[in-house]
Amino acid sequence: MSKPSLLILPGDGIGPEVMAEVRRVIDWLAQEKGMEFDVSEDLVGGAAYDAHGTPLHDDTMAKAQEVDAVLLGAVGGPKYDVLDFSVKPERGLLRLRKEMDLFANLRPAQCFDALAEASSLKPEVVSGLDIMIIRELTSGVYFGEPRGIFTEGNERVGINTQRYTTSEIQRVGRSAFELARKRSNKVCSMEKANVMESGVLWREEMQKVRDAEYPDVELTHMYADAGAMQLARWPKQFDVIVTDNLFGDLLSDLAAMLTGSLGMLPSASLGLPMANGRPKALYEPVHGSAPDIAGKGIANPIACILSFAMALRYSFDRGDLADLIESSVNAALAEGYRTPDLMTVAGGTKVGTTEMTDAILAKMAAA
Ligand code: IPM
Ligand code: MG
Repeated sequence: MSKPSLLILPGDGIGPEVMAEVRRVIDWLAQEKGMEFDVSEDLVGGAAYDAHGTPLHDDTMAKAQEVDAVLLGAVGGPKYDVLDFSVKPERGLLRLRKEMDLFANLRPAQCFDALAEASSLKPEVVSGLDIMIIRELTSGVYFGEPRGIFTEGNERVGINTQRYTTSEIQRVGRSAFELARKRSNKVCSMEKANVMESGVLWREEMQKVRDAEYPDVELTHMYADAGAMQLARWPKQFDVIVTDNLFGDLLSDLAAMLTGSLGMLPSASLGLPMANGRPKALYEPVHGSAPDIAGKGIANPIACILSFAMALRYSFDRGDLADLIESSVNAALAEGYRTPDLMTVAGGTKVGTTEMTDAILAKMAAA
């Protein structure tokens, strides 16, 4: 049997640093567990722009369509702020999401026990937190037409369009309901049905799918602004949250901070099944390229390592190895290893990117 294929796109800023640590985990699994991947690497974002004048070369796009899973670091940086919108680093990532049709973006917000103190919220509010945000990723205001900056008389007008169709809402709804069945059978859908027609449609279609196909799953609806407030007030009331592209972008950053640091959160972006039965998939940390700390060897590699763990779980049916990585991260944190972003409370040993991975690998070896 041929090895499953992985395309690694480290990208910009801290992307290459944290991805180098993931490669150590990949190598470890090959050596110690016989789990071997056919790994290739390519450019995305600003790095691709510097090399090819485009944030995603067509050859890279084609390769991404062929592999079993894509692993992405981060894109963007101040150096590229002056670029035309069409070639900004972020366009590379958005093109991957759109052309691979990765409509369901899973963003788990899990608070590791050792980090309950590191959250800006009270420990009792976040300890044991384990929620899953499912963000629609290929439509909404990120992609809707018309869009652009136009001139009307002597005014300039910036336009973006929030647009959702029945099928777009229903398919991400199904992803949420399916996942809820494997958790606690509870979904909260968030939109702004009080001011947006697209929100009214979102609410109605979600309810229809639930009533017709998932009557066993409890569905509630919340306006996204109230949802943000409730997430900060008592996040443990939620289990699965399903929401659109833009609200999901905002709410997942908020949920990330509940867990102590944006440096902790992985994500999986999944599409339709391929011929081999695996879903089209891209895995990436929720954090960005963090240009302010890039190149210093202090970035937290955990979000990227946990993203690879999600790949093992959702693409390669190796939940056992994903569990091993996750429990080893937990054990390393419990022993006090902290990258600077996690040093928000006294105690713990401050370590860099490589030392954090050393600690995790040591726990994996000892498990
Ligand atoms: C995210 C990021 C991206 C987004 C950017 C980098 C385009 O913030 O994945 O949450 O807005 O979707
Ligand atoms: Mg974001």
